[in-house]
Amino acid sequence: MKKNRQDSMQLSRLSSVLAASALLWCWQAPAQEQEQWLTLPGDQRPGAEPMRFGAGLIGQMIFLEHCATCHKNEAPASGAGEKVGPSLPTLQQYPPERIYDALTNGKMKALAAHLPDDQRRQISEWLASRPIGSLDAGDSAKMSNRCATNPPFDPSKGSAWNGWGAALDNARFQSAEQARLTPAEVPKLKLAWAFGIPNGVETYSQPTVVAGRVFFGTDNGYVYSVDAKTGCVYWSYYAEAGVRTAPVVAPIKGHGATKYALYLGDLRGFAQAIDAHTGKALWKTRVTDLPLSKVTGTPAVHDGRVYLGISSAESVSAASPNYECCTFRGAVLALDANTGKVLWQTYMIPEAPAPRGVAGNGTRLFGPAGASVWNSPTVDAKRGKLYVGTGNAYTQPAARRSDSIVALELATGKVAWSHQDIAGDAWIAGCPAQSKPSSNCPEKLGPDWDFGGASMIQRKLPDGRDVIIGASKGGYVVAVDPDKQGALVWRTKLGDQPAGPNGLIVFGGSADAENAYYALQSGAIASVKLATGEHRWLTPLQPPADRPKRIGQSAATSTIPGVVFSGGWDGVLRAASASDGRVVWEFDTSREFSTVNGVPGKGGSMGAPGATIVDGMLFVGSGYIGTGNGIPGNVLIAFSVGN
Ligand code: HEC
Repeated sequence: MKKNRQDSMQLSRLSSVLAASALLWCWQAPAQEQEQWLTLPGDQRPGAEPMRFGAGLIGQMIFLEHCATCHKNEAPASGAGEKVGPSLPTLQQYPPERIYDALTNGKMKALAAHLPDDQRRQISEWLASRPIGSLDAGDSAKMSNRCATNPPFDPSKGSAWNGWGAALDNARFQSAEQARLTPAEVPKLKLAWAFGIPNGVETYSQPTVVAGRVFFGTDNGYVYSVDAKTGCVYWSYYAEAGVRTAPVVAPIKGHGATKYALYLGDLRGFAQAIDAHTGKALWKTRVTDLPLSKVTGTPAVHDGRVYLGISSAESVSAASPNYECCTFRGAVLALDANTGKVLWQTYMIPEAPAPRGVAGNGTRLFGPAGASVWNSPTVDAKRGKLYVGTGNAYTQPAARRSDSIVALELATGKVAWSHQDIAGDAWIAGCPAQSKPSSNCPEKLGPDWDFGGASMIQRKLPDGRDVIIGASKGGYVVAVDPDKQGALVWRTKLGDQPAGPNGLIVFGGSADAENAYYALQSGAIASVKLATGEHRWLTPLQPPADRPKRIGQSAATSTIPGVVFSGGWDGVLRAASASDGRVVWEFDTSREFSTVNGVPGKGGSMGAPGATIVDGMLFVGSGYIGTGNGIPGNVLIAFSVGN
């Protein structure tokens, strides 16, 4: 019974997403593939770029169209003499069930009466960042595969891939000793188990593996701890919002018997710490109240502090002519790991946004805005620095630290130096390339070459020098010198074609001691020499014959000695030889899985996180919609070399 219910809930979520797209948006669907390019309904902007955003953002679009005129980013305080609705940030704190109820039976019934039920649901789920009914469906207490015991958890023993980059240098490299997977064994990797995420449509939190346990967040609002070998579940924790970051295990003090916490960020803009052994809540801190902001980049935890970046979806909202664009500024914060107290916060744009005019239709405009941080900070303990990348500006003139590599002082958050790779990059989804000065679109659009997604890689060159390596959506890989205030060491463009609308390098690469490896949206994996940026090899990849349009890789690569792993929009996870780029193993995850927890499982695209490799096993989440309208999926998959 329960199984069926979960199944149908999941199906209804998926089909409602598709139904709403059909109703609301112009489909320019190529005959073979259900690829949706979304354009705003009744778009007043001739020549507007089609919106390349997937189903995940449809709730946001419907909200902008039908609700945003009364529910603004900042509502006047109550008592100001005006009857106003709760602000958008306030609505985002409501449970989805309560919003849906307000739209269906409550105060908003009349205002939402013209919306089909599917759309009321999508608005509610988008606002709350979690699906309706997930509290009940996702609880591990109801799963059939609970671990028989929960033995002590000791991270000082055993191997780990902890957080985004495996180590603080964010190289996404696993040593031979900890990987315990040789190049000769990689072709023998076989499915070990799959875990189905109840109500899930995107598996976007990279699995952290520490002391034989796998930790991951989900889009249903739960975080799970499962056994690496068997997939049995130790506990679930209800985070109350989707968790896109990888969780990070680190010591914590001041919470009784608890020795290790799991640190993470959520889509409602909270940082949270929970007991890594039991899943009990320890602290929760709201780290941003900026418009449409959230934590998507995995935190870095070092020496009693949690460092994280703040990103936002404001650049998507601004496509609506009703939206007062733009007031979001990317930020980086340091929190006390024991208490969650904010120690410092640094905006990537120092100037506060101020009024900058009124659009032709009367909508007020603000700026400067942008420079979102959606990567995981890289900690350089030796130099006392933290490195992050920033995204494009939303408004003109583009802020000085947009599309940049930025170094901050670990102690104070003060910006030590920055390297701007692309100046003048103001970009908003859905705008025409040239627009009138009175619109909320930049007069000159783009090129949208963020340094926002790929984390900075810190590596030591053969000559002993350190370099910090960033990569942009434009496909440029850039090495700078941390001892010379970020002076350029080398810069190279990857791929044999210019970056498309979804960028060329998005969630970044990995590096061993001598070379770096990047996945390209054009449909390839490429390698460069760390010392010089010289190109080594480029391997084009073809999707399976039944999905020819699913070309490209935006997920981060992961590396072990001799082998690079890359997951694609086509759902195929591939392993390539690090020396010549030859594909040595592949596994198509876009299929159904029978799961250890009995929840119907289906894989899909891989678009953001990469594989994590520990103790002879490989773990990867499958299912990603993102900005490329990928194939949904709800499974966390484990592979081993089998017997
Ligand atoms: C014409 C203005 C207007 C529009 C359009 C509008 N709202 Fe509201 N909304 C309000 C006001 C005013 C309140 C506060 C009502 C009160 O507390 O009496 C409110 C309250 C709410 C509440 C809180 C209800 C509660 O029970 O506490 C929710 C949730 C909400 N709106 C969601 C939405 C959504 C979603 C949409 C779009 C489908 C929407 N609103 C459209 C003006 C509007």
